[in-house]
Amino acid sequence: MENKKITVNDILEMKKRGEKITMLTAYDFPLASLVDRAGIEIILIGDSVANVVLGLKTTPEVGMTEMIHHSKAVTRAVKRALVVGDMPFESYQINPKESVKNAKRFIQEAKCDAVKLEWFDKCLEVTEEIIKAGIPAMGHIGLTPQTADKLGGFKVQGKDADTAKRLIEQAKALEKLGCFSIVFECIPDKIAEMITKELKIPSIGIGAGINCDGQVLVTHDLLGFLERAKPLKFVKQYINLNSEIKKAIEVFKKEVKEGAFPTKDHSFTIKEEELKKI
Ligand code: KIV
Repeated sequence: MENKKITVNDILEMKKRGEKITMLTAYDFPLASLVDRAGIEIILIGDSVANVVLGLKTTPEVGMTEMIHHSKAVTRAVKRALVVGDMPFESYQINPKESVKNAKRFIQEAKCDAVKLEWFDKCLEVTEEIIKAGIPAMGHIGLTPQTADKLGGFKVQGKDADTAKRLIEQAKALEKLGCFSIVFECIPDKIAEMITKELKIPSIGIGAGINCDGQVLVTHDLLGFLERAKPLKFVKQYINLNSEIKKAIEVFKKEVKEGAFPTKDHSFTIKEEELKKI
C-alpha cells in the first residue's frame, strides 16, 4: 500500500480498473487515524455524528459548528485517505451562495478534500455552484436521512419503476454536473447495479448491494460500538466493541473496589532518603 495521499482522480481511476472502493466514517482523531492506517480510501465525516456520537435523534440537528469541529479533528489525523466533509442540512438547503460559502469552510478551515451533499429538490443548482467554485463534490441519492420525512420515512427507495427511474435521472444529472462519485443509500441491488453500469463515476453503496463500485458503512456500526438490539439489515458488525468496552470498564471498577489497581507497576516512587527529609 502506497503512502501517497489519495486524490479524486485516484478514486475515478479505481472505477476504471474495476477496483472496489472502501469508505468509512470517522469523527475524531483516534478513529480517523485507525481507519486511515487500515488503508480505507475515503473517510467521511458524516452528519451521522449526530446519532452515533452526539446522542441526537436526527442528522438535521447538527450544523456547521459541529461538522467543522469534527472535520478538523479528522484531518489532523489523516495522512493518506481522501477526506470528505458531509454538508449538514442547514448549510446547503438555504441558497447556492450560502452553500458555496459553507462548502469552502470544509476545504479551507477544516482541510477536507471534498464535500458530500444529499439529494433534495434544489440539489442540482447548489451542487453546480459548489463544483464551479472548484470544490470536489460527492452526491448522495436513495434514502437521504436529512429529508427522510419527504421520502415516507427511513425506507428503501426505488422499489417501483417510477421511483427507480427518478434515481437513474438523479445519478446521471449529478455525474453531468461533475460530481466525482455518488453514495447510493438503501436502493434495491438490481437498481444500484443498473445505475452503476450507466455511470463513469463510482457509486459507493450502503444497503445497495454488491455491485456498487464501492461500499461505505458507519464505522461505529461496523465495530458494534453502540448499544443496539441488533444491527441494521445492511450493516455487517465485524466486532462487538460495545460489550468488550463494557467488560473492560467493569474489570477496572472491580479492581479499584478490591484494591487490585493500581499496583506498584502503575505507581511512581520517591527515594527513601528524600522521604525522610519531609
Ligand atoms: O452521515 C453518514 O454517515 C452518511 C453515510 C451513511 C454515507 O451519509
